[in-house]
Amino acid sequence: MPVVAIAGGTSTGLGRALTVAILESADRHWTPVILSRSDKRPPWLRAIDADGLVPVVAVDYMSVASISDALRTHKVHTLLSVALAKDGSQNRLQLNLVEGAREAGVQRYVPSYWGLGVEAYRHVTVMRMGAEGVWEACEKAQRETGMQCARFNCGGFMNYFGIGAHPPARQQQQLTDEELVEQLRQGGGYAAGEDAGEQGVDRDGDMADGSGCYLLKPRGLCAEVPLSPSGGYPRFTTTTLRDVGRFVAAALELETWEGDMNIVGDTVRLDEMIRTTEALLGKKLAVETISPADLDKQIGQLRMPDDFMKLLWLELKREHAKDEVGNGVLDGNVNRMCPHVKPVSFKEYMHAQWS
Ligand SMILES: NC(=O)c1ccc[n+]([C@@H]2O[C@H](COP(=O)([O-])OP(=O)(O)OC[C@H]3O[C@@H](n4cnc5c(N)ncnc54)[C@H](OP(=O)(O)O)[C@@H]3O)[C@@H](O)[C@H]2O)c1
Repeated sequence: MPVVAIAGGTSTGLGRALTVAILESADRHWTPVILSRSDKRPPWLRAIDADGLVPVVAVDYMSVASISDALRTHKVHTLLSVALAKDGSQNRLQLNLVEGAREAGVQRYVPSYWGLGVEAYRHVTVMRMGAEGVWEACEKAQRETGMQCARFNCGGFMNYFGIGAHPPARQQQQLTDEELVEQLRQGGGYAAGEDAGEQGVDRDGDMADGSGCYLLKPRGLCAEVPLSPSGGYPRFTTTTLRDVGRFVAAALELETWEGDMNIVGDTVRLDEMIRTTEALLGKKLAVETISPADLDKQIGQLRMPDDFMKLLWLELKREHAKDEVGNGVLDGNVNRMCPHVKPVSFKEYMHAQWS
Protein backbone atom coordinates (compact mmCIF):
# COMPACT_ATOMS: atom_id res chain seq x y z
CA MET A 1 0.00 0.00 0.00
CA PRO A 2 1.47 3.41 -0.90
CA VAL A 3 2.37 5.67 1.99
CA VAL A 4 1.13 9.24 2.34
CA ALA A 5 2.87 11.41 4.93
CA ILE A 6 1.12 14.40 6.45
CA ALA A 7 3.47 17.04 7.86
CA GLY A 8 1.62 18.84 10.66
CA GLY A 9 -0.93 16.03 10.61
CA THR A 10 -1.43 16.11 14.38
CA SER A 11 -3.58 19.26 14.14
CA THR A 12 -7.24 19.04 15.13
CA GLY A 13 -8.12 21.01 11.97
CA LEU A 14 -6.72 19.98 8.63
CA GLY A 15 -4.38 17.26 9.92
CA ARG A 16 -7.30 15.40 11.50
CA ALA A 17 -9.55 15.99 8.47
CA LEU A 18 -7.00 14.50 6.07
CA THR A 19 -6.07 11.55 8.29
CA VAL A 20 -9.67 10.65 9.09
CA ALA A 21 -10.71 10.87 5.42
CA ILE A 22 -7.78 8.75 4.26
CA LEU A 23 -8.56 6.09 6.87
CA GLU A 24 -12.27 6.23 6.00
CA SER A 25 -11.63 5.69 2.27
CA ALA A 26 -13.58 2.65 1.13
CA ASP A 27 -10.55 0.61 0.02
CA ARG A 28 -8.02 1.99 2.54
CA HIS A 29 -5.54 2.06 -0.30
CA TRP A 30 -3.18 4.56 1.34
CA THR A 31 -1.26 4.18 4.59
CA PRO A 32 -0.90 7.49 6.45
CA VAL A 33 2.16 8.53 8.44
CA ILE A 34 2.19 11.76 10.41
CA LEU A 35 5.25 14.01 10.67
CA SER A 36 5.37 16.13 13.79
CA ARG A 37 7.81 18.00 16.00
CA SER A 38 7.27 15.28 18.63
CA ASP A 39 6.03 11.70 18.63
CA LYS A 40 3.05 12.54 20.87
CA ARG A 41 -0.25 11.09 19.61
CA PRO A 42 -3.17 13.52 19.87
CA PRO A 43 -6.39 12.23 21.52
CA TRP A 44 -8.32 12.18 18.22
CA LEU A 45 -5.68 9.90 16.69
CA ARG A 46 -5.69 7.57 19.68
CA ALA A 47 -9.48 7.45 19.28
CA ILE A 48 -9.50 6.36 15.64
CA ASP A 49 -6.28 4.34 15.70
CA ALA A 50 -6.24 2.47 19.01
CA ASP A 51 -3.68 -0.03 17.70
CA GLY A 52 -1.19 2.69 16.77
CA LEU A 53 -1.05 1.73 13.09
CA VAL A 54 -0.58 5.37 12.03
CA PRO A 55 2.91 6.33 13.19
CA VAL A 56 3.66 9.83 14.45
CA VAL A 57 7.26 10.44 13.45
CA ALA A 58 9.26 13.20 15.12
CA VAL A 59 11.21 15.38 12.69
CA ASP A 60 13.22 18.57 12.96
CA TYR A 61 11.74 20.81 10.25
CA MET A 62 14.84 22.99 10.38
CA SER A 63 16.94 20.06 9.13
CA VAL A 64 16.55 18.77 5.56
CA ALA A 65 18.39 15.58 6.58
CA SER A 66 15.91 14.91 9.39
CA ILE A 67 12.96 15.33 7.01
CA SER A 68 14.44 13.24 4.21
CA ASP A 69 15.50 10.46 6.65
CA ALA A 70 11.94 10.19 7.96
CA LEU A 71 10.46 10.16 4.45
CA ARG A 72 12.96 7.57 3.24
CA THR A 73 12.52 5.32 6.28
CA HIS A 74 8.78 5.22 5.75
CA LYS A 75 9.02 4.91 1.95
CA VAL A 76 6.74 7.89 1.47
CA HIS A 77 5.14 8.20 -1.97
CA THR A 78 3.13 11.41 -1.39
CA LEU A 79 3.85 14.17 1.12
CA LEU A 80 1.06 16.56 2.10
CA SER A 81 2.07 19.48 4.27
CA VAL A 82 -0.44 21.25 6.50
CA ALA A 83 2.30 22.43 8.85
CA LEU A 84 1.94 26.00 10.01
CA ALA A 85 4.71 27.60 12.04
CA LYS A 86 3.52 30.85 13.56
CA ASP A 87 6.95 31.68 15.02
CA GLY A 88 8.47 33.14 11.85
CA SER A 89 9.96 29.85 10.60
CA GLN A 90 7.18 28.94 8.13
CA ASN A 91 9.15 29.87 5.02
CA ARG A 92 12.24 27.88 6.04
CA LEU A 93 10.01 24.94 7.06
CA GLN A 94 8.29 24.95 3.66
CA LEU A 95 11.55 25.19 1.70
CA ASN A 96 13.11 22.41 3.79
CA LEU A 97 10.11 20.15 3.17
CA VAL A 98 10.47 20.56 -0.62
CA GLU A 99 14.18 19.81 -0.37
CA GLY A 100 13.66 16.86 1.99
CA ALA A 101 10.94 15.41 -0.26
CA ARG A 102 13.14 15.78 -3.29
CA GLU A 103 16.14 14.14 -1.60
CA ALA A 104 14.01 11.23 -0.37
CA GLY A 105 12.57 10.56 -3.83
CA VAL A 106 9.01 11.44 -2.87
CA GLN A 107 6.81 11.27 -5.97
CA ARG A 108 4.19 13.90 -5.12
CA TYR A 109 4.40 16.90 -2.87
CA VAL A 110 1.80 19.36 -1.61
CA PRO A 111 3.11 22.48 0.17
CA SER A 112 1.06 24.09 2.93
CA TYR A 113 -1.34 26.48 1.16
CA TRP A 114 -4.96 25.39 1.79
CA GLY A 115 -6.44 28.85 1.53
CA LEU A 116 -7.77 31.28 -1.02
CA GLY A 117 -6.57 31.02 -4.61
CA VAL A 118 -2.87 31.50 -5.25
CA GLU A 119 -3.39 35.14 -6.31
CA ALA A 120 -4.02 35.95 -2.63
CA TYR A 121 -0.50 34.76 -1.78
CA ARG A 122 0.87 37.76 -3.70
CA HIS A 123 -1.07 40.29 -1.65
CA VAL A 124 -1.57 38.96 1.89
CA THR A 125 1.65 39.73 3.74
CA VAL A 126 1.84 36.79 6.15
CA MET A 127 0.85 34.30 3.46
CA ARG A 128 3.36 35.80 1.02
CA MET A 129 6.14 35.57 3.61
CA GLY A 130 5.38 31.92 4.41
CA ALA A 131 5.22 30.97 0.74
CA GLU A 132 8.12 33.05 -0.62
CA GLY A 133 10.06 30.96 -3.17
CA VAL A 134 8.20 27.76 -2.21
CA TRP A 135 6.31 27.21 -5.44
CA GLU A 136 9.42 28.07 -7.45
CA ALA A 137 11.32 25.38 -5.49
CA CYS A 138 8.48 22.94 -6.21
CA GLU A 139 8.58 23.72 -9.94
CA LYS A 140 12.35 23.31 -9.99
CA ALA A 141 12.09 19.93 -8.24
CA GLN A 142 9.35 18.92 -10.65
CA ARG A 143 11.50 19.85 -13.66
CA GLU A 144 14.66 18.22 -12.36
CA THR A 145 13.34 15.08 -10.66
CA GLY A 146 9.78 14.59 -11.93
CA MET A 147 8.33 15.04 -8.41
CA GLN A 148 4.74 16.15 -9.05
CA CYS A 149 3.73 19.19 -7.03
CA ALA A 150 0.35 20.78 -6.45
CA ARG A 151 -1.11 23.57 -4.36
CA PHE A 152 -4.46 22.64 -2.87
CA ASN A 153 -6.74 25.65 -2.44
CA CYS A 154 -10.14 25.47 -0.78
CA GLY A 155 -11.32 29.01 0.00
CA GLY A 156 -12.16 30.02 3.57
CA PHE A 157 -13.00 27.21 5.98
CA MET A 158 -16.81 27.07 6.28
CA ASN A 159 -16.45 26.04 9.92
CA TYR A 160 -15.82 29.66 10.93
CA PHE A 161 -19.56 30.15 10.44
CA GLY A 162 -20.37 27.37 12.91
CA ILE A 163 -18.51 29.04 15.79
CA GLY A 164 -20.91 29.53 18.69
CA ALA A 165 -23.62 27.19 17.39
CA HIS A 166 -23.15 24.63 20.14
CA PRO A 167 -22.69 24.97 23.88
CA PRO A 168 -18.98 25.26 24.60
CA ALA A 169 -17.44 21.85 25.08
CA ARG A 170 -16.37 22.87 28.59
CA GLN A 171 -17.50 19.60 30.04
CA GLN A 172 -14.97 18.00 27.77
CA GLN A 173 -12.18 19.69 29.67
CA GLN A 174 -13.43 18.01 32.84
CA LEU A 175 -13.17 14.61 31.17
CA THR A 176 -10.33 12.29 31.90
CA ASP A 177 -8.07 11.63 28.97
CA GLU A 178 -9.63 8.22 28.46
CA GLU A 179 -13.17 9.63 28.55
CA LEU A 180 -12.26 12.24 25.94
CA VAL A 181 -10.72 9.57 23.69
CA GLU A 182 -13.89 7.49 24.07
CA GLN A 183 -16.06 10.48 23.07
CA LEU A 184 -13.87 11.08 20.03
CA ARG A 185 -13.97 7.39 19.16
CA GLN A 186 -17.76 7.37 19.14
CA GLY A 187 -17.77 10.23 16.62
CA GLY A 188 -15.08 8.75 14.36
CA GLY A 189 -12.49 11.25 15.62
CA TYR A 190 -14.91 14.15 16.28
CA ALA A 191 -16.73 14.64 19.58
CA ALA A 192 -20.45 15.34 19.14
CA GLY A 193 -21.55 19.00 19.26
CA GLU A 194 -19.04 21.84 19.11
CA ASP A 195 -16.09 19.72 17.98
CA ALA A 196 -18.04 18.01 15.18
CA GLY A 197 -19.41 21.38 14.01
CA GLU A 198 -16.24 23.43 14.15
CA GLN A 199 -13.99 20.53 13.10
CA GLY A 200 -10.99 22.11 14.82
CA VAL A 201 -11.05 25.47 13.03
CA ASP A 202 -8.89 27.99 14.90
CA ARG A 203 -10.99 30.69 16.57
CA ASP A 204 -8.71 33.43 15.32
CA GLY A 205 -11.04 35.50 13.12
CA ASP A 206 -11.12 39.26 13.59
CA MET A 207 -14.72 40.07 14.53
CA ALA A 208 -14.83 43.01 16.89
CA ASP A 209 -16.17 41.03 19.87
CA GLY A 210 -13.17 38.69 19.96
CA SER A 211 -15.30 35.59 19.29
CA GLY A 212 -12.82 34.35 16.68
CA CYS A 213 -15.50 34.52 13.97
CA TYR A 214 -14.79 35.90 10.49
CA LEU A 215 -17.36 37.85 8.41
CA LEU A 216 -20.43 36.37 10.14
CA LYS A 217 -21.26 35.90 13.78
CA PRO A 218 -24.69 34.24 13.86
CA ARG A 219 -24.68 33.93 17.68
CA GLY A 220 -24.17 37.70 17.97
CA LEU A 221 -26.57 38.46 15.08
CA CYS A 222 -23.97 40.47 13.22
CA ALA A 223 -21.85 40.49 10.08
CA GLU A 224 -18.77 42.48 9.06
CA VAL A 225 -18.26 42.12 5.31
CA PRO A 226 -16.25 43.81 2.55
CA LEU A 227 -17.84 45.28 -0.56
CA SER A 228 -16.41 45.01 -4.06
CA PRO A 229 -15.03 48.13 -5.81
CA SER A 230 -18.43 48.54 -7.54
CA GLY A 231 -20.20 48.52 -4.17
CA GLY A 232 -21.72 45.03 -4.54
CA TYR A 233 -21.30 41.97 -2.34
CA PRO A 234 -18.46 39.73 -3.52
CA ARG A 235 -18.66 35.97 -3.94
CA PHE A 236 -16.92 33.75 -1.41
CA THR A 237 -15.66 30.19 -1.92
CA THR A 238 -15.86 28.15 1.24
CA THR A 239 -15.35 24.48 2.17
CA THR A 240 -15.66 22.55 5.42
CA LEU A 241 -12.46 21.10 6.80
CA ARG A 242 -13.83 17.58 6.53
CA ASP A 243 -14.74 18.07 2.88
CA VAL A 244 -11.19 19.24 2.17
CA GLY A 245 -10.09 15.93 3.71
CA ARG A 246 -12.54 13.95 1.58
CA PHE A 247 -11.44 15.62 -1.65
CA VAL A 248 -7.77 15.10 -0.87
CA ALA A 249 -8.34 11.43 -0.01
CA ALA A 250 -10.13 11.03 -3.36
CA ALA A 251 -7.43 12.99 -5.22
CA LEU A 252 -4.76 10.59 -3.93
CA GLU A 253 -6.23 8.04 -6.33
CA LEU A 254 -5.74 10.27 -9.39
CA GLU A 255 -2.78 9.53 -11.65
CA THR A 256 -1.99 13.14 -12.39
CA TRP A 257 -2.62 16.36 -10.56
CA GLU A 258 -2.79 19.89 -11.89
CA GLY A 259 -0.50 22.53 -10.38
CA ASP A 260 -3.49 24.20 -8.75
CA MET A 261 -5.95 21.80 -7.20
CA ASN A 262 -9.01 23.88 -6.32
CA ILE A 263 -11.64 22.45 -4.00
CA VAL A 264 -15.01 24.16 -3.80
CA GLY A 265 -17.49 23.34 -1.05
CA ASP A 266 -19.70 26.18 -2.21
CA THR A 267 -19.42 29.65 -3.70
CA VAL A 268 -21.93 32.10 -2.28
CA ARG A 269 -22.31 35.89 -2.45
CA LEU A 270 -21.85 37.47 0.96
CA ASP A 271 -25.37 38.95 0.95
CA GLU A 272 -26.78 35.47 0.23
CA MET A 273 -24.82 34.15 3.19
CA ILE A 274 -26.36 36.86 5.36
CA ARG A 275 -29.89 36.12 4.07
CA THR A 276 -29.49 32.37 4.61
CA THR A 277 -28.34 32.99 8.18
CA GLU A 278 -31.24 35.39 8.83
CA ALA A 279 -33.77 32.92 7.44
CA LEU A 280 -32.39 30.15 9.66
CA LEU A 281 -32.34 32.25 12.80
CA GLY A 282 -35.59 34.09 12.01
CA LYS A 283 -33.83 37.35 12.92
CA LYS A 284 -32.08 40.19 11.09
CA LEU A 285 -28.31 40.55 11.37
CA ALA A 286 -26.68 43.91 12.01
CA VAL A 287 -24.54 44.22 8.89
CA GLU A 288 -21.45 46.40 8.78
CA THR A 289 -19.88 46.82 5.35
CA ILE A 290 -16.45 48.10 4.47
CA SER A 291 -15.29 49.48 1.11
CA PRO A 292 -11.90 48.65 -0.45
CA ALA A 293 -10.82 52.26 0.16
CA ASP A 294 -11.66 51.99 3.89
CA LEU A 295 -9.84 48.67 4.06
CA ASP A 296 -6.75 50.35 2.61
CA LYS A 297 -7.12 53.17 5.13
CA GLN A 298 -7.42 50.76 8.08
CA ILE A 299 -4.45 48.75 6.84
CA GLY A 300 -2.42 51.95 6.61
CA GLN A 301 -3.14 52.74 10.28
CA LEU A 302 -1.89 49.40 11.65
CA ARG A 303 1.25 49.27 13.75
CA MET A 304 3.66 46.42 13.18
CA PRO A 305 4.48 43.99 14.64
CA ASP A 306 1.64 44.31 17.20
CA ASP A 307 -1.16 44.36 14.60
CA PHE A 308 0.12 41.42 12.58
CA MET A 309 -3.06 39.33 12.95
CA LYS A 310 -5.29 42.35 12.22
CA LEU A 311 -3.30 42.89 9.05
CA LEU A 312 -3.92 39.30 7.98
CA TRP A 313 -7.69 39.55 8.30
CA LEU A 314 -7.94 43.02 6.71
CA GLU A 315 -5.79 41.90 3.79
CA LEU A 316 -7.92 38.78 3.39
CA LYS A 317 -11.02 40.99 3.24
CA ARG A 318 -9.31 43.15 0.62
CA GLU A 319 -8.72 40.02 -1.50
CA HIS A 320 -12.32 38.85 -1.02
CA ALA A 321 -13.56 42.29 -2.05
CA LYS A 322 -11.96 41.81 -5.48
CA ASP A 323 -14.53 39.09 -6.28
CA GLU A 324 -11.91 37.42 -8.46
CA VAL A 325 -11.60 33.84 -9.71
CA GLY A 326 -8.25 32.41 -8.58
CA ASN A 327 -8.44 34.49 -5.42
CA GLY A 328 -11.53 34.60 -3.12
CA VAL A 329 -13.46 32.65 -5.73
CA LEU A 330 -12.24 29.28 -6.98
CA ASP A 331 -13.00 27.20 -10.03
CA GLY A 332 -13.32 23.70 -8.59
CA ASN A 333 -11.20 21.52 -10.87
CA VAL A 334 -10.85 18.94 -8.07
CA ASN A 335 -14.67 18.75 -7.87
CA ARG A 336 -14.68 17.85 -11.58
CA MET A 337 -11.87 15.30 -11.13
CA CYS A 338 -13.61 13.67 -8.15
CA PRO A 339 -17.34 13.96 -8.96
CA HIS A 340 -18.25 11.25 -6.44
CA VAL A 341 -17.31 13.57 -3.55
CA LYS A 342 -20.36 15.65 -2.69
CA PRO A 343 -19.40 18.58 -0.52
CA VAL A 344 -21.67 20.22 2.03
CA SER A 345 -23.15 23.49 0.72
CA PHE A 346 -23.19 26.65 2.82
CA LYS A 347 -26.95 26.27 3.34
CA GLU A 348 -26.62 22.63 4.40
CA TYR A 349 -23.79 23.41 6.79
CA MET A 350 -25.62 26.35 8.38
CA HIS A 351 -28.81 24.32 8.63
CA ALA A 352 -26.97 21.48 10.37
CA GLN A 353 -25.31 23.85 12.84
CA TRP A 354 -27.93 26.48 13.56
CA SER A 355 -31.44 25.06 13.16
N1 LIG B 1 -8.73 28.22 4.38
C1 LIG B 1 -8.77 28.73 5.59
O1 LIG B 1 -9.77 29.34 6.03
C2 LIG B 1 -7.60 28.52 6.49
C3 LIG B 1 -7.65 28.96 7.82
C4 LIG B 1 -6.55 28.70 8.65
C5 LIG B 1 -5.45 28.03 8.14
N2 LIG B 1 -5.43 27.64 6.84
C6 LIG B 1 -4.27 26.89 6.27
O2 LIG B 1 -4.44 25.52 6.62
C7 LIG B 1 -3.19 24.91 6.91
C8 LIG B 1 -3.23 24.31 8.31
O3 LIG B 1 -3.58 25.34 9.19
P1 LIG B 1 -4.01 25.03 10.68
O4 LIG B 1 -4.54 26.28 11.29
O5 LIG B 1 -4.83 23.78 10.69
O6 LIG B 1 -2.60 24.74 11.30
P2 LIG B 1 -2.22 24.53 12.81
O7 LIG B 1 -3.16 23.60 13.43
O8 LIG B 1 -1.97 25.83 13.47
O9 LIG B 1 -0.80 23.85 12.60
C9 LIG B 1 -0.65 22.63 11.91
C10 LIG B 1 0.49 21.88 12.49
O10 LIG B 1 1.70 22.57 12.22
C11 LIG B 1 2.63 22.14 13.18
N3 LIG B 1 3.34 23.31 13.71
C12 LIG B 1 2.90 24.28 14.49
N4 LIG B 1 3.90 25.16 14.79
C13 LIG B 1 4.95 24.70 14.19
C14 LIG B 1 6.27 25.14 14.14
N5 LIG B 1 6.70 26.22 14.76
N6 LIG B 1 7.11 24.41 13.42
C15 LIG B 1 6.69 23.33 12.79
N7 LIG B 1 5.44 22.86 12.81
C16 LIG B 1 4.59 23.54 13.50
C17 LIG B 1 1.92 21.50 14.34
O11 LIG B 1 2.20 20.12 14.36
P3 LIG B 1 3.18 19.49 15.48
O12 LIG B 1 2.94 20.21 16.76
O13 LIG B 1 2.72 18.06 15.51
O14 LIG B 1 4.55 19.65 14.98
C18 LIG B 1 0.47 21.74 14.00
O15 LIG B 1 -0.37 20.68 14.37
C19 LIG B 1 -2.14 25.99 6.70
O16 LIG B 1 -1.62 25.90 5.41
C20 LIG B 1 -2.94 27.28 6.86
O17 LIG B 1 -2.37 28.36 6.14
C21 LIG B 1 -6.47 27.85 6.02
